[in-house]
Amino acid sequence: MKLLVTGGAGFIGANFVHYTLKNRPEYEVTVLDKLTYAGNKENLASIGDTIAFVEGDICDAKLVDSLVKDTDIVVHFAAESHNDNSLREPWPFVQTNIVGTYTILEAVRKHDKRLHHISTDEVFGDLELDDPNRFTETTPYNPSSPYSSTKAGSDHLVRAWVRSFGLKATISNCSNNYGPYQHIEKFIPRQITNILSDIKPKLYGTGEQVRDWIHVDDHNEAVHLILDKGAIGETYIIGADNDHVNNKAVIEMICETMGKPRDWYEHVNDRPGHDMRYAMDSSKLRRELGWQPHYTDQNGMQDGLKQTIEWYDANRDWWQAEKAATEATYAKQGQ
Ligand code: NAD
Ligand code: TYD
Repeated sequence: MKLLVTGGAGFIGANFVHYTLKNRPEYEVTVLDKLTYAGNKENLASIGDTIAFVEGDICDAKLVDSLVKDTDIVVHFAAESHNDNSLREPWPFVQTNIVGTYTILEAVRKHDKRLHHISTDEVFGDLELDDPNRFTETTPYNPSSPYSSTKAGSDHLVRAWVRSFGLKATISNCSNNYGPYQHIEKFIPRQITNILSDIKPKLYGTGEQVRDWIHVDDHNEAVHLILDKGAIGETYIIGADNDHVNNKAVIEMICETMGKPRDWYEHVNDRPGHDMRYAMDSSKLRRELGWQPHYTDQNGMQDGLKQTIEWYDANRDWWQAEKAATEATYAKQGQ
């Protein structure tokens, strides 16, 4: 079975490729990735030539057409993925997330292939901090940022292609991921690599915001289950019931695990339009496909966080060259 993985050199995509090779030897994998600042071929280096790697843009219709023609299934991870970048420069988000997804859809339609589209909880907007509700597959879309609105646009395109053209597609909306190979611009790896660089972690605003953290392997296992057993045209919410840990608590947990005082961090400027609370109800995925997250413990994320910290400590060559530039960009915004 041939699998085309877009964005397979990025954080979740690379972990997906590793997970697939380890657990699903029946798949022959080709990665299509533009290698933007967020894509890194090193993420796939240990795999060597057991996969095919194509450097290219998902907006390149000719290239996408030729790759889709020669595959059975497309798993579409490629995206511009960072909210803070989308606030500085929205255009690449519109181009890749919307035009790129449209380009994939047209090729999948022409060659009648199976597509799984990877999306985010952020399409639903946010909940109030004291709102006990969680997002479900029927929650109306209400995105806040250029990132989340372009992801919402891509989800709408996929649904329209399913309904209008009978496309064989599924969608998943997952909560915030953490784990190895995540770019150091993102919250958790930024703080881990700050401490490893003797810089204090940076908390936006009050740090009361809640993200429903999930380990990347739990996300990717769910994606495989959807490929195996998901119903065409359906959407599945993926989340590990971690909606009780706010950003401040995560920073404190990182400080403590890394041998620093719990309050060894500083408050920096808040993000404009900062979403307050995300919480996911993944009961459909659990009930219909039998999914269960593995990275769950008393704190929901202590074990996964410890493993992630160890990975960044052991792989300093992977991130150190980019640390100064990443922090300089944040410093310009008082973050
Ligand atoms: P990432 O930024 O780490 O990786 C994105 C990858 O896509 C990179 O390798 C990049 O080079 C590639 N890419 C970007 N533009 C491209 C283009 N035009 N053509 C081809 N390749 C291109 O992102 P991630 O965190 O791994 O996210 C992957 C997907 O999962 C995205 O669709 C994102 O919206 C979704 N998602 C992410 C999270 C999260 O917490 N990170 C949560 C839910 C859903
Ligand atoms: P992030 O990893 O950017 O993911 P998202 O914006 O998709 O949720 O941020 C996660 C949370 O952490 C978010 O509430 C913003 C906050 N944050 C900080 O407090 N400090 C930081 O240095 C960063 C990058 C994010």
